[in-house]
Amino acid sequence: MYIRESPREASGCMRCDLRLLVAALGVVWGSAACDAASDTTLQCLVCHETVTPGVFHDWTASRHAKRALAEVLAEPEPSRRFGRLSATDVPESLRAASVGCAECHTLNPEKHADTFDHNGFKVHTVVTPDDCATCHPVEREEYARNLMSHAKTNLEANPVYHSLADAANGPQRLEGGRLVQDRPSAMTEADSCFACHGTTVGVEGTRSRNTELGEMDFPVLTGWPNQGVGRVNPDGSAGACTACHTRHRFSMAVARQPYTCSQCHQGPDVPAYKVYMASKHGNLYASHGNTDDYDALPWVPGRHISTPTCAVCHASMLSSPDGRVLSERTHAYSDRLPWRLMGLPYAHAHPKSPDTTIIRNQAGLPLATELTGEPASEFLIGPEEQAVRLGRMRQVCLNCHAGGWVGGHFAKLDHAIETTNQSTLTATQLLLQAWDSGLANGLAAGASVFDDEIERMWVEHWLFYANSTRLAAAMAGADYGVFADGRWQLSRNIEAMHQWVDRRQRPTGGQ
Ligand code: HEC
Ligand code: HEC
Ligand code: HEC
Ligand code: HEC
Ligand code: HEC
Ligand code: HEC
Ligand code: HEC
Ligand code: HEC
Repeated sequence: MYIRESPREASGCMRCDLRLLVAALGVVWGSAACDAASDTTLQCLVCHETVTPGVFHDWTASRHAKRALAEVLAEPEPSRRFGRLSATDVPESLRAASVGCAECHTLNPEKHADTFDHNGFKVHTVVTPDDCATCHPVEREEYARNLMSHAKTNLEANPVYHSLADAANGPQRLEGGRLVQDRPSAMTEADSCFACHGTTVGVEGTRSRNTELGEMDFPVLTGWPNQGVGRVNPDGSAGACTACHTRHRFSMAVARQPYTCSQCHQGPDVPAYKVYMASKHGNLYASHGNTDDYDALPWVPGRHISTPTCAVCHASMLSSPDGRVLSERTHAYSDRLPWRLMGLPYAHAHPKSPDTTIIRNQAGLPLATELTGEPASEFLIGPEEQAVRLGRMRQVCLNCHAGGWVGGHFAKLDHAIETTNQSTLTATQLLLQAWDSGLANGLAAGASVFDDEIERMWVEHWLFYANSTRLAAAMAGADYGVFADGRWQLSRNIEAMHQWVDRRQRPTGGQ
């Protein structure tokens, strides 16, 4: 570590030297943020104010730059907790100064495969959840329980999901009139699925680069750049806090806005954002979002915000006007989720562990239900835990609605889960017919279950239409439950799948 052990006062001379040096270089030293910075960070700033002005100014505008850690730590509970710092014990060496370049980029150097010698400092580029945990241990621990922090491995280490990725991404070519699909390249995977799910960031040696201050050595990072939610980092940790807390402002207000989530929750398979924007809540957000207060702590529904955003329902700490905490903040979104609505292929009770690779159904497949819908119950939460989680979600609604409104809403959601699962079962029965009669190569043939035409129709059934219908019911955006990837498409697709199988099975039929 290069953070000085000595208190700030004792190093006054060095700060003067730096200021002089800066003056000599003709750089304008215009920020109060520099007053709270450590000596080491000042040395980073000497170069980085001009080398990366975007980074510098973003950081000076952040809360991290504003005041010394000791000052924040001195605040009494609960205002310190409201005041954004969950650590009660931070290393002595970090307390005297604010959170600057060095405080983040030189933490835990021995754990980082991406640590490199940089102008006399041991710096790493990829600041990880484990680094943030020096000061935000509660958020890191909760986030580790969030499905999102496992998004990379959940996809990569599940052979069924991975063959879905291959069917989506693999380049196709004709071989003697036959269509052949190859495996996608690592670059394609990083540019598609892993853009959101996260890559593995590795280090492949060092390379010298010509910078505006001359030649310098930097590590060559693979799987970079990436800010996927389940990114596997060079210190072995999982996740990217930057998926929602963009560097270098690390603003909570940004994370509370729906745009932050829209980046990944928008496609036909995962249309939460589109559903939200089509809902009354999204309508009110579009009308009042620019005047509501997204920086307030404690956050009081009604006083600071007129409508819930994604964060309000899934994550935020909400308080009563007299300061009582009504909903605890969580970075483990499953705390408020009784169901796993994203059905692969059926919706089911939420999994017990965020690591979904451990799940096996009766058929031995790494899926949370059988192909015919029965849940792999030993891996899923039971009705009691579901009730606790629903209770937490309902508590959010009750800030603005009465019990009858909320009860009626969730009854409709339960019904949508039931009817969409039923529709997926019908589609699956048609697929099983196609496999049994040799019209498509399925499980028994050891082939991909996602690449034949009928299989792709089946995938769209649950991945697009059933998911969309359930999300529309969960978040009150009815449009996405009917003609926009909703119930109409479900019924039309059953019709089309039935036709597909029927025509080929009839001896006189076929094309
Ligand atoms: C002598 C000037 C100088 C000092 C001092 C300095 N840097 Fe840099 N730094 C640079 C230059 C130049 C680059 C290259 C920017 C580019 O890629 O064009 C760089 C790049 C970086 C990068 C990106 C590395 C990558 O993977 O590409 C990080 C992170 C970084 N510096 C952090 C720091 C931190 C933290 C400190 C203080 C502990 C610091 N720097 C001190 C000049 C400096
Ligand atoms: C999926 C988006 C998302 C990710 C990823 C995420 N956060 Fe947050 N974070 C939020 C939201 C939303 C809030 C606002 C919560 C509220 O309103 O109470 C927040 C608030 C915070 C706060 C301020 C309040 C507090 O808890 O003291 C800190 C600090 C924080 N996050 C740290 C982290 C760290 C560290 C990580 C990585 C381990 C992380 N976050 C990952 C969405 C995210
Ligand atoms: C609160 C911790 C934190 C502080 C303070 C911080 N950084 Fe960073 N920095 C990060 C994170 C996190 C990333 C990106 C990692 C990721 O994408 O998940 C990053 C990335 C960078 C990069 C690479 C950006 C790119 O797009 O290639 C540079 C350069 C950098 N930081 C320099 C600095 C400098 C200079 C300062 C001080 C002005 C600073 N950082 C302060 C956490 C921090
Ligand atoms: C050395 C300690 C330290 C480290 C390391 C650190 N933070 Fe912070 N962070 C703080 C403190 C202190 C505050 C609160 C400042 C205040 O309230 O004045 C804060 C505030 C925040 C906030 C709330 C900002 C807002 O707008 O309300 C977020 C989000 C956050 N940090 C995210 C991160 C992330 C992500 C990382 C890692 C990339 C990180 N922090 C690393 C000390 C740290
Ligand atoms: C960088 C992409 C990305 C961003 C940004 C993002 N998410 Fe996600 N989210 C994902 C991925 C990928 C998953 C699926 C993880 C898995 O199933 O393994 C997911 C899963 C979820 C889940 C389901 C969790 C569960 O346990 O069932 C919720 C809820 C969620 N995200 C809400 C949000 C909210 C709210 C925000 C914004 C504050 C947000 N996400 C921002 C990519 C993202
Ligand atoms: C634009 C961002 C994004 C991209 C690109 C993306 N996903 Fe996802 N993925 C998500 C989100 C968001 C979720 C969670 C949605 C929810 O919970 O409703 C998710 C969840 C999943 C899940 C559920 C995992 C589990 O264990 O719960 C699988 C499987 C999956 N995606 C496969 C893929 C495949 C395969 C690709 C590439 C062909 C891909 N995804 C590309 C955002 C993305
Ligand atoms: C009014 C509250 C509310 C708002 C606002 C809201 N959600 Fe939801 N969300 C819910 C409820 C309720 C569920 C269903 C929970 C369950 O039954 O498990 C849900 C489910 C989800 C799921 C599916 C989780 C799973 O396990 O399959 C995702 C992903 C999600 N929301 C993301 C978002 C995003 C992104 C936004 C903002 C664009 C958002 N939500 C806005 C209440 C809300
Ligand atoms: C911050 C306050 C707030 C929270 C929290 C909140 N809502 Fe709302 N909701 C509203 C307002 C305001 C309206 C619009 C009422 C109107 O149109 O008169 C609304 C509208 C709705 C509607 C729209 C009905 C329609 O026909 O368009 C439904 C359904 C709904 N909310 C359900 C929920 C559920 C379920 C939750 C919790 C998961 C929730 N709300 C959380 C404020 C909130």
